[in-house]
Amino acid sequence: MKKLGMDLNSFILDQERRYPNATGSLSRALVAIESAVKVIASHVRMAGLVDILGKAGKTNIQGEEVQKLDELANNLMIEYLSSSGEFFALASEELDEPIFPEEGKDAKYVIAFDPLDGSSNIDVNVSIGTIFSIHKRVNSDSSDFLQEGYKQVAAGYVVYGSSTMFVISTGNGVNGFTLDPSVGMFLLSHQDIKLPEKGKIYSFNESNIKKWEPQSLVSYVETLKEEGYTSRYIGSMVADVHRTLIKGGVFAYPADTKNKNGKLRLLYEASPMAFLITQAGGMATTGKEDILNIKPTDIHQRVPVFLGSKKEIQQLLSFINNG
Ligand code: AHG
Ligand code: MN
Ligand code: MN
Repeated sequence: MKKLGMDLNSFILDQERRYPNATGSLSRALVAIESAVKVIASHVRMAGLVDILGKAGKTNIQGEEVQKLDELANNLMIEYLSSSGEFFALASEELDEPIFPEEGKDAKYVIAFDPLDGSSNIDVNVSIGTIFSIHKRVNSDSSDFLQEGYKQVAAGYVVYGSSTMFVISTGNGVNGFTLDPSVGMFLLSHQDIKLPEKGKIYSFNESNIKKWEPQSLVSYVETLKEEGYTSRYIGSMVADVHRTLIKGGVFAYPADTKNKNGKLRLLYEASPMAFLITQAGGMATTGKEDILNIKPTDIHQRVPVFLGSKKEIQQLLSFINNG
């Protein structure tokens, strides 16, 4: 039985026990992610210091090379996930091609991740995150990454915010764990998260308004304003989606005249977030189709993203469909 304060490891084992045929492989995979993000979190917490102490000569006080935080996060994810032996293949937003780790030859899963989301916010001490999406290995090649989002076995993100939080779904609701830095454990703080049916916030980068496609989005946002909505836009998808998950409302990154498919990446950003939002009772669409139904054609493909509470997304779809 899960209860508030339970640690993430016990939660993972508890979930596993519900499936008599489970081999423990997914549990070990999730624990590997947990270890990687704890190390990333500790580096994020030191980001300002490393910057000041490390910039000259690019070495820190221990004489080690200082890596940019997004490179470091990428390397840590690759290292921990590969050595766990639980992943047949890894695809990262930061890498052109997937990696097939030697240790994962017999593994059952493939994982796609955005090691550090919101990297433009690092320098200014604003929330950033890590996002991941796990599918079953089926064909044993790169095409395993081209499975629809609804086939995800697990998806989640970590937000390095005023506290560090790990939010995860294995297709059985969404739970959030907050890192207690004094013991180094993620403790269940947000049990069975559900989006409100309707929120009060819209989250778009409104500077692109003239370029948005379709332009009916402009009247949609105008209507939200008239209905009393307020605006919040952090510019880290993890943080904007996290707020949307807790408070409801709508987060969007539409297509525009410059970015015909929007900016956000299907595998590393849109699909895992759509899985979580849907599991929490919300909706996630490109404006044309449910994000979870898209069959990817390329690992780095981008898609327009609209996600959030049911009321806002249904209203959005009626604006798009009625021009
Ligand atoms: P990343 O840092 O992984 O490249 O992602 C940045 C993304 C996403 O986090 C955010 O929602 C979006 O870029 C913000 O884009 P704009 O600055 O164009 O609004
Ligand atoms: Mn990102
Ligand atoms: Mn990134």
